[in-house]
Amino acid sequence: MEGQVAVVTGAAQGLGLGIVEKLGQYGANVINGDLQYEKAGAAAAALSARGMAVEAAELDVADSGAVTRFFNRISEERGHVDILVNNAGVGQKVAPVVELSDEEWQRVIHITLTGTFYCCRAAGRIMEGQGRGSVVNIASINGQNPAATERGKEIVLANEIRKGGDHLVLRGKNGRPAWIDVQGHICPICGN
Ligand SMILES: NC(=O)c1ccc[n+]([C@@H]2O[C@H](COP(=O)([O-])OP(=O)(O)OC[C@H]3O[C@@H](n4cnc5c(N)ncnc54)[C@H](O)[C@@H]3O)[C@@H](O)[C@H]2O)c1
Repeated sequence: MEGQVAVVTGAAQGLGLGIVEKLGQYGANVINGDLQYEKAGAAAAALSARGMAVEAAELDVADSGAVTRFFNRISEERGHVDILVNNAGVGQKVAPVVELSDEEWQRVIHITLTGTFYCCRAAGRIMEGQGRGSVVNIASINGQNPAATERGKEIVLANEIRKGGDHLVLRGKNGRPAWIDVQGHICPICGN
C-alpha cells in the first residue's frame, strides 16, 4: 500500500480509527474525514508521531456538495484516490417501528446510507478516471436480518457498487458479515 491514497470516513474514533491505523501501518497516505474535526486531528497527530502518514479533514458525508469538493480537492492535491472506506454512520434509536418518527428515520438514512452513496459517487468518478480504485463499505450484520434496518439497504448498495470496482463487506471467520466492537473483536455472542 506504499504511496496509495486512502480516505476513511468517520474515523475520529472507533472502528474507523482502527482502520486508519492499519492502513497507515501498511504505508498508505491516509485522510481521516470526520464531522468531529478536532478529535480526528488529535488522532491523526498521534499516528503521525508514530511515523504514519495520516491527516485529518473536516467532512460531513451527508452534505453532497461538501463530499464532492472534498474528494476533488484530494484528487487535485494528491493526484489520485486509491482507497475509500465508507465507515461513517450513526446508530438508530432503538424503538419499535410503530414508535419511530420520520425525523429519526430520515436522520439515520441520510447519514448512513445517502452519505455512503455521496462518497461512492464522488470517489467513484475519480477512480473511474484513473481506471482503478477500491471501495470498502462498512455495513451491519443487521443487513442479513429479514427485518432489515436501513443498513440492509447499504449492503444492497455495496453489491451494486461491486459492478464498478473492488468491493469488500466486513467478514467474519465463517465468511459472513461480522459484528465488530470498537476494540476490533469478533462478536462473542454470535461468533461471526
Ligand atoms: N460497532 C459495531 O459493532 C458495528 C456494528 C454494525 C455496524 N457498524 C458500523 O461501523 C461503523 C463504525 O462503527 P463504530 O462503532 O466505530 O462507530 P462510532 O460511533 O464509534 O464512530 C462513528 C464515527 O462516524 C462519525 N460520523 C457520524 N456522522 C458523520 C457524518 N455525517 N460525517 C462524517 N462523519 C460522521 C462520528 O463522528 C464518529 O467518529 C459505523 O458505520 C457503524 O454503523 C458498527
